[in-house]
Amino acid sequence: MTAHTPPPEPPEPSAASLAALLTEADVMPSGWADVFAAVPRGAFVPDLVWAHDPAANSYTPLDCTSAPDAWVAAVYANTALVTQWDDGDHTGTAPGRLASSSASMPSVVADMIYDLKVSDGDRVLDVGTGTGYTAALLAARLGTGQVVTVEVDPELADQARANLAAAGIPVTVVTGDGTKGWPGGAPYDLVHVTAGTRSIAPAWLAQTRPGGRIVAPWGTDYSPHDALVALTVHDPHHASGPFTVAASFMKLRGQRPNRPGHAAYTPPGWTENARVSVPTVTLGQVTGGAYDAGEFAVGLAVPGCTKAVAPAADATTVWLYSLPAAADDALSVAAATYPHDADQAPAVWQAGPRSLWDEVEAAHAWWDGLGKPEVYDFGLTVTVANDGTVHHTPWHDNPDRPIPAANTAATLDHDGQA
Ligand SMILES: C[S@@+](CC[C@H](N)C(=O)[O-])C[C@H]1O[C@@H](n2cnc3c(N)ncnc32)[C@H](O)[C@@H]1O
Repeated sequence: MTAHTPPPEPPEPSAASLAALLTEADVMPSGWADVFAAVPRGAFVPDLVWAHDPAANSYTPLDCTSAPDAWVAAVYANTALVTQWDDGDHTGTAPGRLASSSASMPSVVADMIYDLKVSDGDRVLDVGTGTGYTAALLAARLGTGQVVTVEVDPELADQARANLAAAGIPVTVVTGDGTKGWPGGAPYDLVHVTAGTRSIAPAWLAQTRPGGRIVAPWGTDYSPHDALVALTVHDPHHASGPFTVAASFMKLRGQRPNRPGHAAYTPPGWTENARVSVPTVTLGQVTGGAYDAGEFAVGLAVPGCTKAVAPAADATTVWLYSLPAAADDALSVAAATYPHDADQAPAVWQAGPRSLWDEVEAAHAWWDGLGKPEVYDFGLTVTVANDGTVHHTPWHDNPDRPIPAANTAATLDHDGQA
């Protein structure tokens, strides 16, 4: 009889096991394994957290005092942990309404560090301190005086300051609005933003040296999801770079989704004057999701539009709402209803100056015609005008191929050229 060696026990969850897990998953940036192994995530994560399962979109409370093993296992797993709900206005163990701070998913932390391309001697502005864990990793790599982190929530900033001090990791923690950067530490080589953005802050360009980089989750209003963008700063008015990978972050507090209420778009009788048609895209094509490159691409081509999916007993309706640039802008709305009964036909109603559904269909056709490119086939150019206005120009393949807005089907050809 052959003697078999019994399987080894799994390693105790620890910073070292997390570093090994990220290395095994092939997401550990070169030269960073020792840093991840040396910085204990558990020293930054509070006693009560909620583990996020993105597939089920569920949150499981974990309490270090009552279930320490489960808490430690989650802390050293590749799991995002919500650490605050509703800007701190929440008690109890049930999930709150809006996750407002977290320890980000470790593989996403690693992705962002990869995109930063950190070198010895770099000075980093870290925006969105949260627990302080990502600032701690950067400071453990770069040393004293190299990392400034800004957190808008005073309680979180105080806690992160205490966590970093207890761990003996030197970081300047600033309480304030990270979209203003922190001029006291400028110029920076790198800006690392760990909250979702819809608008790149002019201060980040102004406070970064030419040739430095900004890595941030950025997305359009069309979807709640983001992609990491790795911008090279050319000067205080220009930055450009590719998207690298899909991600989903809680948004900067000043850049959360915001539109007039549903009723403002749908006055009584609005469907009677609406333009009615049959959708040419399927429900599956427009429902999207965190890693849906099509949804991301459509959002790039349909600016100033936000989408909501409303499942109901008989049908699922996809709503599109225009985002007014000025308070007196006329609103546009579209509703596409997909009955669950396959014998019933879907239908679209559109009202207002924009035909939002037509724009979305044109953008889908454009993305299909390009061969369904991935998130990393697109990029972003950011231009800050002299009056501080920020313009975002998404592009396909290279900055010389800007994506025109899909205001009419004719503006998008399959090369993505106007
Ligand atoms: C995803 S969490 C940060 C994750 C964190 N770096 C970590 O340890 O993994 C996002 C953080 O950004 C903070 N935040 C939101 N808006 C901000 C702003 N305008 N300026 C600075 N911080 C902000 C939130 O309060 C939250 O703590």
